[in-house]
Amino acid sequence: MNEQSNELTENLSPDPEWNLVEEAYDEKDNQRMESLFSLGNGYFGMRGYFEEGYHGKKGASVRGNYVNGFYDTAPIHYPEGAYGYPTEGQAMLNVTDAGIIRLTVEGESFHLNRGQVQVYRRVLDMQNGVLHRLVEWESPAGHRVRIEIHRLVSLTHRHLAAIHYEVTALNFAGTVSICSAMDGDIAEAEGAADRGGDPRLGARRTEPSLLFEEAGSDGRGGGWLKQRTRRSRFALLTAVSHQLELPPSAAFGLSEQQDGPWFSVQYDVSLRQGEKVSLSKFISVHTSRDTREEELRMRSAEELRLAVSRGFDGLAKEQRAYLDAFWHRADVEIAGDPALQQGLRFNAFGLLQSAGRDGRTSMAAKGLTGEGYEGHYFWDTEMYVLPFFTFTTPEIGRALLEFRYRTLEQARQRAQVMSQWGALYPWRTIGGEENSAYFPAGTAQAHINADIAYGIRQYVQATGDEDFLVRQGAEILFETSRFWVDLGHYNPARGGAFCIDGVTGPDEYTALVNNNAYTNLMAREHLRYACETAKLLRERYPMEYARLARKIGLTEEELREWQRAADKMYVPYDSELGIYAQDDTFLSKQKWDFAGTPPEKYPLLLHYHPLVIYRHQVLKQADLVMVLFLLSEQFSTEEKIRNYRYYEPLTTHDSSLSPCIHSIVAAEIGDLKAAYDYFSRTVRMDLDDVNGNAKDGLHTAAMAGSWMAVVNGFGGMRLVSGELSFKPVLPPPWSSCRFKVMYRGQLLEVFFDREQVVYTLREGEGLVIRHEGEPMSIHSGEAVRRTLAANHPSSGGHLVS
Ligand code: BGC
Repeated sequence: MNEQSNELTENLSPDPEWNLVEEAYDEKDNQRMESLFSLGNGYFGMRGYFEEGYHGKKGASVRGNYVNGFYDTAPIHYPEGAYGYPTEGQAMLNVTDAGIIRLTVEGESFHLNRGQVQVYRRVLDMQNGVLHRLVEWESPAGHRVRIEIHRLVSLTHRHLAAIHYEVTALNFAGTVSICSAMDGDIAEAEGAADRGGDPRLGARRTEPSLLFEEAGSDGRGGGWLKQRTRRSRFALLTAVSHQLELPPSAAFGLSEQQDGPWFSVQYDVSLRQGEKVSLSKFISVHTSRDTREEELRMRSAEELRLAVSRGFDGLAKEQRAYLDAFWHRADVEIAGDPALQQGLRFNAFGLLQSAGRDGRTSMAAKGLTGEGYEGHYFWDTEMYVLPFFTFTTPEIGRALLEFRYRTLEQARQRAQVMSQWGALYPWRTIGGEENSAYFPAGTAQAHINADIAYGIRQYVQATGDEDFLVRQGAEILFETSRFWVDLGHYNPARGGAFCIDGVTGPDEYTALVNNNAYTNLMAREHLRYACETAKLLRERYPMEYARLARKIGLTEEELREWQRAADKMYVPYDSELGIYAQDDTFLSKQKWDFAGTPPEKYPLLLHYHPLVIYRHQVLKQADLVMVLFLLSEQFSTEEKIRNYRYYEPLTTHDSSLSPCIHSIVAAEIGDLKAAYDYFSRTVRMDLDDVNGNAKDGLHTAAMAGSWMAVVNGFGGMRLVSGELSFKPVLPPPWSSCRFKVMYRGQLLEVFFDREQVVYTLREGEGLVIRHEGEPMSIHSGEAVRRTLAANHPSSGGHLVS
């Protein structure tokens, strides 16, 4: 194992573009670094906390361990409630901490705030999927040890994580004790409790999260612990086993302690100077959400047996192979910008680590990296995260959509509560039920239905996966279409146009409006796609269509009604300004006093009552600008320019979801400077803590948005009626850019510099795409070159109209 561990260390290439490297420990950044150094596999996530614990300032550490979709509920109390408000809130739980490893050197316990730290290096290695820490430490009594820790959360065995912990006695002979533990008594961490009225953090829990049920050990360093959530009554089984490697002549003693939700095993090892001991710890996590309760112990024992047989090194090799395949499809390379390159890789890696892929779970706004937004899933999944997976790892894309199918029943019930027909998806949820306690910026965001429909259409068109459409997608589309026609009405005051009143668009600084343009345009698209899907099914899958129509009572009359509502959809437009109005009243409001608002008053939501904000023309995030990108083919370049120029100055970007969309639209209208600035802000959102709250978890939508900003923005990729098109333009600081996209099972590489673009079909038989509007065919393995005719004038930030 010693040899293997050196091998691993050497594998850590010093290349900063593939690694996140921390060369010195700075206590004030601890909680943020815990978020950045998180590991996960979409099922289980561990923040980058130190195995030995944090001994610095109170409240600056959240030892977070999370299982996707594993939550508890708590009643939501409204001093002034009303009918239909959600009464139960769900929150992702911080679960049993199995990452504890404490070291004692000749009776002195190691931690970073004691003795002397002589060498410190922490590396998140994104090629190997391993978190590595190297510390050389001198105890207060002068004993020096070298500690090397490798940690992984397996991407190939979703219930497994492993830590390899190695200690070398550098200048002494004596006893080194390694105590490895598992603690199920998780009270809310101090850092997580410091909410300061920030609505993005959610309600506070005060009780320990899990109730103890039973525990056991095998007397050989293995132990397990079964616990249960208080109200949702989900069971959790966490188990550990260990492998110790010693120098041939070394003696050791083992002692175990089992006490309620605590299990620990201590190895006391006598080392000679220069010798090392290493401990591999394997952790398995199962819950009754994914495993039959009576099988929990058996499954976890099997998983640990597998882990032990592979060893840490075996798991690490599998991890590398998995990631090689992932990067082969998902890597984006930009030459000439190492910091942004690092950001792009960090983001793609982060998305992979947090996205649910079992069809029962989705992607929390902060992934599995922190408790911000209580672990809830939002529209962020379909509008930001899903495109990344659809075009790089479509199997995960499908799984994310399957989650919506799995929760369709709750969406039907929610529509009923809202006195509406069909299905209304929750604005925020884990289990499928609406969790939004503030309806103006919650349930009112009915656009979530259209966003899901958009995600389905994009996924199906990009992958050709009609099987998903037939089995699940169509039912979602139909039920959610019913909601629109029931919600809207043909308004005589608008010449009989179909209007949708009392909704909130994506911009949460404007609420409860009539005819939000984004919502109406996206609902129109949704209804049209539902009609197309019905036609496709009727023609190509008549049996399945008949079965579905029977199941949900779908009639031909309804289909005609969807088409009619789409045809007559009202879209607010101001002909004097020549722009779309964000909604019926937006343009007549007073503009926000930006000049009189000092920087410390941002984000506005923390400094002004919502009503103050709602009364002004001010945006939290892209709204109309977003639809300019999503339905790009429906607007002329001139329209895009006019609308962007109007709304962009009114936008605060107080939401991390905003800059990437502005980057894409700015690139399209030829404002490369703005496109690049917005991109820079998105791509290092967490690495540079742009919004100041990375400590509460990473911003997964922005992470995915940085991929979109390259592929859809600078690459100009659009998917219109199933046809893929590109219009690349390189921002000045780069010398070239390369990305790949999966399209109908084929892998297309797009490489461009300032003069030309090269399209290469890396996998697949052949396909037809458009380059700057011109159709072109590419055959297997072929590289097709094109000069970039429309390379925007000197790429210097001019407008091209
Ligand atoms: C944004 C929403 C987003 C949510 C979760 C809010 O600040 O306004 O659009 O869904 O964060 O990321």
